[in-house]
Amino acid sequence: MTDTSGLRAGVAGWPVEHSRSPMIHRCWLKELGIKGTYEKFAVRPGEFPAFAARIREGELVGANVTVPHKEAAFSPCDERTPVAEALGAVNTLWSEGGRLMGDNTDVAGFLANMDECASGWATQAKLAVVIGAGGAARAIAYALMSRGFERIAIVNRTQERAETLAGHFGGPTTAMAWADLPKGLAGADLLVNTSSLGMAGQPLLALDLSPLPEHAVVADIVYVPLRTRLIEAASARGLRAVEGLGMLLHQAAPAFARWFGREPSVTPALRALVEADVMAAYEAAR
Ligand code: ATR
Repeated sequence: MTDTSGLRAGVAGWPVEHSRSPMIHRCWLKELGIKGTYEKFAVRPGEFPAFAARIREGELVGANVTVPHKEAAFSPCDERTPVAEALGAVNTLWSEGGRLMGDNTDVAGFLANMDECASGWATQAKLAVVIGAGGAARAIAYALMSRGFERIAIVNRTQERAETLAGHFGGPTTAMAWADLPKGLAGADLLVNTSSLGMAGQPLLALDLSPLPEHAVVADIVYVPLRTRLIEAASARGLRAVEGLGMLLHQAAPAFARWFGREPSVTPALRALVEADVMAAYEAAR
């Protein structure tokens, strides 16, 4: 059996205290009997290259990268996966033969969560409406292109950012004005919120979902609270609704497998553990 003691991984962010990645990875380390560790690394903006060097040199087996470093993590990489190249952002680092490698597992995380919670969700893939135009929207637009959506309409408070994102990918990805949302929803097979609207402490995303067709699926990447107003509204209308927490859990799995050499599972026990933490944080913030 491989000796796993001394394998160090972690998450780099600023701030990093709020990260739930340690909870997820430590749960898997314990479940799989791996002696490695998963730590929090508070890395200031500007200090990221020095942190990346620690991975290249093998001090750490790898790291997750969170806000605000996902774009800063792109340039130090010697090699990146095609997904990371397409997004221009890296959320997972590891080293291979002294070369720093970068991946972005947000796309795989989103897709795995959708597949788990709404099987067949991309069978009808004519139009997806995506709210938001940040890094999460970019990953999700790419994910939807990979599943063959004919049109991916990006709607954002700052329309210019929606246009920039649409221009980044081109093809099926287009910008749509807020004012056109009701008309857009009428033809949508999927609605995804990637904005921070609905998150604890942020304004609610109050949308009239009545124009959506009956087969439409609604997804939210916000997971604090676990069930957002959008998810509640979709469920109330009898639509399939996919909560955001699963994306967080599923994006962690490919990174863990790379560093520790074992495929972890998103088990009900893991989900319950993280849900309890999210609920406690939500109550504390109220
Ligand atoms: P991430 O990289 O996590 O996607 P981000 O780049 O900060 O984060 O993007 C947050 C998204 O939420 C953006 O689309 C933002 O809209 P703007 O581009 O107009 O800033 C959206 N958002 C945040 N607060 C919002 C609000 N109060 N109303 C509407 N959209 C909001």
